[in-house]
Amino acid sequence: MSEPIKARIISTGAYLPEKILTNKDLESIVETSDEWITTRTGIKKRHIAAKNETTSDMGVIAAKRAIEKAGISYDKIDAIIVATITPDMLFPSTASFIQKKLGITSIPCFDIGAACTGYIYALVTAAQFIKCGAFKNVLLVAAEKLSAITDWEDRSTCVLFGDGAGAAIVSGERGNMEIGEFFLGTDGRFTDILNVPGGGVFCPASEESIKNKMHFLKMKGQEVYKYAVKYMCESAEKVLAKANISSESIDCLLPHQANMRIIKAVGKRLKIPQEKIYLNVHDCGNMSAASSSVGLDGVLKKHNGNQKILMVAFGAGLTFGSLLLEGMDNQ
Ligand code: ACO
Repeated sequence: MSEPIKARIISTGAYLPEKILTNKDLESIVETSDEWITTRTGIKKRHIAAKNETTSDMGVIAAKRAIEKAGISYDKIDAIIVATITPDMLFPSTASFIQKKLGITSIPCFDIGAACTGYIYALVTAAQFIKCGAFKNVLLVAAEKLSAITDWEDRSTCVLFGDGAGAAIVSGERGNMEIGEFFLGTDGRFTDILNVPGGGVFCPASEESIKNKMHFLKMKGQEVYKYAVKYMCESAEKVLAKANISSESIDCLLPHQANMRIIKAVGKRLKIPQEKIYLNVHDCGNMSAASSSVGLDGVLKKHNGNQKILMVAFGAGLTFGSLLLEGMDNQ
């Protein structure tokens, strides 16, 4: 009998826009302070895409970096999956735009809308296609232009978010980071605590919807906070149990980068010390699905040996999930 196919990450890539917006800069936009933002969130600065720079523009740069690192030709890519909640258009998918910009044709392309958990959902989805033998190489992108759906007059949200993109090549043929056990979940009861209410069919764009700022991100921060720690910890614990390992054997925890207080609480409950937790929240803010993809690119620069990386995230939906990546020597 032939060996089961393993889904592995061959390479990753990332892109952050050039423009940086510091907490000090924000002080001149809304009534806030570096001190408030730092103590409540840990964020010091974030990258902001140029006015005409789209989500697919950022995604393509990250994708090209991952493809180049993998050393594969474009015709070896069998599918493109994009995680985003800030698509270039309502349709077609941002994956279609990325396909076009890469100059690839025919292969299947689709988006996943699982908010901040989107990259974990995308990695798990790609892994299933690989394991069943349908595809050999899948290009994954998580890209977000949250600055485009941010109400820059609302201090309770505009200080939290940033723009960016990350990508990965997931393969059934090679790569030294195996996609292992996972858990995915959603609690649809809480679709009202984090959303963009306007622009879809629930509240189509109109003069009134624009006047009422329905096309901007709305968040009940404290409500989200309450569920974030619970769902991230439960997700990670389920994955550790499925893999039959303790948190002590985790070399690096890559949590969604929304807020330092949430990250610290998750680390504490999982008994994973601070020095094992990867962070980019200080420099990038919350980039939704792109936080985990940019983060994974950073993590794999440090941990590329025989190591265990635990990813965990939560986001609008409320979605949540966790994924174990296991380093494989000599691959
Ligand atoms: N600067 C100064 N003061 C502010 C600011 C600001 N930027 N924002 C709010 N305040 C004020 C409020 O008006 C309030 O003032 P009041 O007491 O006079 O009414 C006070 O600060 C406290 O506000 P809270 O909302 O209670 O602040 P909290 O401690 O809850 O922190 C935060 C807010 C950081 C948003 C927190 O609730 C949080 O992190 N929530 C989770 C958000 C999150 O993780 N989202 C991730 C998902 S994102 C996605 O899926 C796309």
